[in-house]
Amino acid sequence: MTTLVRGARQLLTLRGDSGPRRGAALRDLGIVPNGAVLIKDGVIVDAGPARRIEKLPAARRAREIDAAGCVVMPGFVDSHTHLIFGRPRLVDYEMRLAGATYTEIAAAGGGILSSVEAVRRMSAAQLETQARAALAAMARHGTTTVEAKSGYALDEAGELKTLRLLAKLNGDPLDIVPTYLGAHLAPPEYRGKPDAYIDWTTAEMMPQIRRRKLARFVDVYCDEGAFTLEQSRRYLDHARSLGFGLKIHAEQFARTGAARLAVELGAASADHLEQAGDEDTRALAQSNTIATLLPGSVFHLGLRTYAPARALIEAGAAVALATDFNPGTSPTYSMQMVLSLACTEMRMSPAEAISAATINGAHALRCADRIGSLERGKQADLLLLTVADYRELPYYFGTNNVHMTIKTPCPKQS
Ligand code: NIG
Ligand code: FE
Repeated sequence: MTTLVRGARQLLTLRGDSGPRRGAALRDLGIVPNGAVLIKDGVIVDAGPARRIEKLPAARRAREIDAAGCVVMPGFVDSHTHLIFGRPRLVDYEMRLAGATYTEIAAAGGGILSSVEAVRRMSAAQLETQARAALAAMARHGTTTVEAKSGYALDEAGELKTLRLLAKLNGDPLDIVPTYLGAHLAPPEYRGKPDAYIDWTTAEMMPQIRRRKLARFVDVYCDEGAFTLEQSRRYLDHARSLGFGLKIHAEQFARTGAARLAVELGAASADHLEQAGDEDTRALAQSNTIATLLPGSVFHLGLRTYAPARALIEAGAAVALATDFNPGTSPTYSMQMVLSLACTEMRMSPAEAISAATINGAHALRCADRIGSLERGKQADLLLLTVADYRELPYYFGTNNVHMTIKTPCPKQS
């Protein structure tokens, strides 16, 4: 089947070279005024000026989608979420609004371990209902590919239940990139024994997950009260030796050295970075590790310290943006809201934010050869927006500016 998307007031192609976008390239959206996109069997045949695309022989017989007056852009690549968590943490939320800190809430029986208890207890079918509702909301808000972490069960049965559910949900309708977050926290049965937990997860869980092809990435929460730099290094080293890509929750509440560890190990991304300093910024800028910023979590926690996006961009780091969708720190489905926060709170320009939420998100998932821009040969995942100028996307905050999400199924992954 051939489809012609025509009449786009601004077509944001995000075309460019094959590496992650930094500096001036991050600001270049490859805008085509009055653009069109020709799609055949879910693959982009060509994207560019309407007068050229509409003359292509295949365009004449194509089914047409009218994008008159719209911005047309690639679907969002949400490269950091904790998709499967069972239920929202509303008691935590109210406690925090009354003044309790993230650590105090955890100490009072809330926090990550309360989600662990819920996910262990819930059936796969119950978790599926929660996850499907979240995926449908993400699709409505323009996300077409989503990374999803396990890490809310932390035992064998629960982690496998989560990862198998991700495999089942993949492609219906969104593409899901699965990540094993075994080292989220030491679970109750390993309380006070984080090293023994790391031993278990590396020896027992990782090989099994690799063999069953249930995750493409492995992630660790390196922070005060979670795992130390040395524990994180040991865990990630092992993951790397098994062939997993690496991700790290780095410098979120305390500065630990995790961002530099990510660079040293060649991680695909270092995520959060609220507490990152100059050395971290420089190390990231000189690497291919994507600096993934998650301003939704800072906003929801009511904190003031956002990641140093300007310093990272000016040093030359490749910055991505993601929701960090999770029940404790960032309950949002909306990449659009993340863009608004990135611009207002972190002083990113609208163009930088859009590149960070599409092509650089794709780099953070190592699938930029297939998604993240509207270029010949790429998967036809695109958005028709209700706005006529791309700057309106972050400007109209807290609303859904997506008129239509076009999602092409991709071949089953991992
Ligand atoms: O990315 N900090 C670690 N993980 C999550 C929060 C998880 C939770 O509170 O349930 C994050 O912010
Ligand atoms: Fe996270």
